[in-house]
Amino acid sequence: GAPARVNISKLAPGEMMVGEWRGKPIYVVRRTPEVLENLYKMDGELRDPESVEPMQPGYAQNHYRSIKDEYLVLIGICTHLGCAPQYRPEVGAADLGGDQWFGGFYCPCHGSKFDLAGRVLKGVPAPVNLEVPPYKFETDGLLIIG
Ligand code: FES
Repeated sequence: GAPARVNISKLAPGEMMVGEWRGKPIYVVRRTPEVLENLYKMDGELRDPESVEPMQPGYAQNHYRSIKDEYLVLIGICTHLGCAPQYRPEVGAADLGGDQWFGGFYCPCHGSKFDLAGRVLKGVPAPVNLEVPPYKFETDGLLIIG
C-alpha cells in the first residue's frame, strides 16, 4: 500500500487528530510538556511501560514511544478486539480512575485504558500497548505514515 500523508501543521498543543493509513485510523496527539511529565506518573500502573513487546518500530522504543517527544502517532485500534479508543486527556477524570488518571485513551467496548503514549494499563482486557505505525516527518508539519 502507498504511504499516507497527514498534515499536522494545524494541530494545537493538547489536541488529537485522526488520519488514515491502509484503512486504519491513525491518531496523532500533540502532547504538552505537562502531558510528557505526567507519563512518568503512570509507570506503576502500566503492564509494559518500557514497551519491550514489539508493537512498534525501533525508533519509538523509548519512554514516549515517539520520534519527537511532542507528537504521539498511533494506530487507533484497540489491541483487545479492535474498537476505537476514545481520546480522554482530562487529568483526574472521575469515570476513569480519578486522581490515578493522568490522561490517555479509553476503549468503550470493554473498558481498556491506555496512557498518552498508548501504553496499556494493568488489569484491563487489552493485552498489549497500542501499536505505533511506521512513520517519518517529511517536514515539521507533514507526517508520512507507512
Ligand atoms: Fe477495546 Fe475490548 S475492544 S476493550
